[in-house]
Amino acid sequence: MAAITDPELSPPVPSLSLDQLHDSLSDPLLGSISFLNEVMGRYPDAISFAPGAPHPSIFTEINIDSYTRRFIAHLVQGRGLTEAQARRTMFEYGPSRGLINDLVTDALRRDYGMDIDSDSVVITVGAQEGMLLSLRALCAKPQDVLAVVNPCFAGIAGAARVLGLPVIGIDESSAGVDLDALRQECRAARHRGQRIRACYVAPDFSNPGGSRMPLENRRSLLELAEREDFYVLEDNAYGFTAPTAAEIPQLKALDVGRRVVHIGTFAKVCFPGSRVGYVVADQPVQAAGGTQLLAHHLAALKSMVTVNTSPLGQAVIGGMLLEHGGSLLELSSKKAALYRRNLAHLSHALDQNLGDVHPSIRWNRPEGGFFIRMEIPMRADMNLLEVSAAKYGVLWTPMSQFYLGSAGDCEMRLSCSYLTLEEIDEGVQRLASFLKKETSQPRR
Ligand SMILES: Cc1ncc(COP(=O)(O)O)c(C=O)c1O
Repeated sequence: MAAITDPELSPPVPSLSLDQLHDSLSDPLLGSISFLNEVMGRYPDAISFAPGAPHPSIFTEINIDSYTRRFIAHLVQGRGLTEAQARRTMFEYGPSRGLINDLVTDALRRDYGMDIDSDSVVITVGAQEGMLLSLRALCAKPQDVLAVVNPCFAGIAGAARVLGLPVIGIDESSAGVDLDALRQECRAARHRGQRIRACYVAPDFSNPGGSRMPLENRRSLLELAEREDFYVLEDNAYGFTAPTAAEIPQLKALDVGRRVVHIGTFAKVCFPGSRVGYVVADQPVQAAGGTQLLAHHLAALKSMVTVNTSPLGQAVIGGMLLEHGGSLLELSSKKAALYRRNLAHLSHALDQNLGDVHPSIRWNRPEGGFFIRMEIPMRADMNLLEVSAAKYGVLWTPMSQFYLGSAGDCEMRLSCSYLTLEEIDEGVQRLASFLKKETSQPRR
C-alpha cells in the first residue's frame, strides 16, 4: 500500500505569501520581541539588561495554592457562595467583565483616590488586551488616528498595527508628552480630514523613555483632551515604583470630564504569568436601549476575543490583594523598593564605570520605572547587539524599535528589573569594556 506521504501521490502544499496576509505581519515591530528572545536564548550566560520582566527569584515567594484558597474563602465569606460553588468558579468560564472587579475597584479608590464604581472596571488578559479592546472600541471611523508618545511602548503601537489604525508619534521630553506638539497635531489632523481620537501616555515612568509627567502637565493634557475631543489612554504599568506615589495623582484620579481610560496590569506588581490586567472605562455610552458605561462595551468585545480572563489567574491575584489588606500599594511596596534600589544601583554603576569612556555616551536618570536609555556614538542595532552578546556577554535592547519613524539609531535601553545587584555590577563592567573597545574602532 502506498504511503500517504508519498511525494508522487501527495498534492503540493500551496504556500502562503506574506503580502497576502495582514499588513501588520510585515511590520518589523511584530518580529522584534521574538528576535530579542531568540538572542537571549542563544547567549544564556550573557547578563541581560533587555527584559522589562521581574527577576525570577521573586517568584519563589509566591504560593499560588494558598492565594487561590484565600480567594475561594473570600467567595464563600464575602459573596455567599458554597465551597463547592466557589471551587467550581475556578474551573468554568466566567463573566467577560471579570471576577475580581470589586477588589480592584476598592484598591484604586483607596490607594489612588479614583472616584470609580466596579461596573466601570473590566479585568483583561494583561494590559495588552486592555489596550487592544480600548483601541478597537474607540477608533471606529477611517479618519480616527491614535497619537502615542514617541518613543513608545511596543505593545500599543503593535496593537494599533494589528487593528490597522493610523498612528502618529508625539515627541516626549522628561516631562512626558510634548503638549504643544500634541495640540498642533490635533489641528493638523483636522486639516487632513482626520481626528486624533485617542492619545496613549504612561505618565508615571514611560517605557522606554522613563519620563514622569508633572501635575501641571497632567491637568493641561486633560484640558486639551476636552478641548480637542480625544480620549487619553493612561498606562500605569510602572506607577507603583514612584518614590512619592501619593504626590502626583494619576490622570484617572483627576479626570472629572471622564476623558481617561485607565489601563493597569498585575504583571509587575505580582507576576506576568498571571496575565491579569484591568481597564477603567467609566465613559457613559448612549444607545437606543439606554446608557451603559464604556466598560460594558469593552466586556462585550472581550467576549469575542478572549471570552474571559482565566479565573485561576484572577483567583491568585485576588488572593494576593486580599492578603495585603486589599491594597495595591501594600501589595507592591516591597517590589517597588526593590526596583527603586536596582534603578539607583544601575545609575550609580553607570556613573562609576562609564563616566569617562566616551564624551558622547550619555544616559538619563529617571526617578522610577525599570529603564535607563543611553546614547552611544555608533549604531545600536541588532548587529551590534550580536557583537555585544557574543564577545562581551551583555545584552540590551536597541531603542530604534520603540520609535515611530527612523530615530533612536544610536540609543539603547537598559532594564534594571531582571538582575540582582551583583549582576548589575558585572553587567555594567561588561558594558563598559564593550563600549570602550567598540567605540575606539573605526566603523558604522
Ligand atoms: C508600558 C507597559 N505597559 C504594559 C505592560 C504590561 O502588559 P501586560 O499586562 O500585558 O503584561 C508593560 C510590560 O512590559 C509595559 O512596559
